[in-house]
Amino acid sequence: MSTTATPTARRFPRGVRRAVNSGHVVFAVGLLGLEWAMMLLSVVARSTDDATLRHSAYRLIRVLALTSGIPFAVLSLITGVLLCLYTPWGLWQHLWIKVKIVLQLAVIVTGAVVVSQFVHRLMSAAAPGGDADALPTLQTWHLAAVIFQILALIAASALSVFKPSGNRRTRKPGAADRTRRRDTDRATDPADPARERAVAR
Ligand code: HEM
Repeated sequence: MSTTATPTARRFPRGVRRAVNSGHVVFAVGLLGLEWAMMLLSVVARSTDDATLRHSAYRLIRVLALTSGIPFAVLSLITGVLLCLYTPWGLWQHLWIKVKIVLQLAVIVTGAVVVSQFVHRLMSAAAPGGDADALPTLQTWHLAAVIFQILALIAASALSVFKPSGNRRTRKPGAADRTRRRDTDRATDPADPARERAVAR
């Protein structure tokens, strides 16, 4: 897969780019909202004395993860990669995009390997006749993993808005800040005709 700038012939038309970008934002920020909801459910389950409510909260977390968390994570990843491949951004040219890819993969791996295991064990421990002694440790680690996912997604959202430049080596130190500020303004203003030239540099 090429890591250089996207050739003009392979770029999305403006309308398609905006549509894919909108979908990307909905899925990516929707995933952040879902993680937030799952964190709140986890806090409720941890703090209640009501065993039925506790078990229901973990069941609801599982339903949210399966029906929305997994699809949103996959769709935000796919739309993000498409935006890289079919716009001047390119897949591996800008630091903010590399960091976002790493953060997104970290969220997905944490969800698939760590959080899903904890939810499975929490549902058994919180069920009638389950191992109640195991609950506090499982609850703490589950909550910690979800908070990590939220922080990673907040960082990805901030990077998407600020788009800090990753191409500083080719610039004079004195000009770096001014140039970066100008590039960032262009890169975040879709109406600016210089945007594509600025972001593709
Ligand atoms: C593999 C992961 C990801 C990749 C490759 C990726 C790539 C991109 C690219 C290239 C853009 C610019 C689109 C354009 O200018 O037309 C973008 C925009 C955006 N991304 Fe991502 N993204 C990823 C994950 C995420 C995540 C996890 C979040 C947040 C939770 C996120 C939030 C956003 C937002 C809010 C924008 C809109 C920024 C704007 O238009 O000013 N992305 N993404």
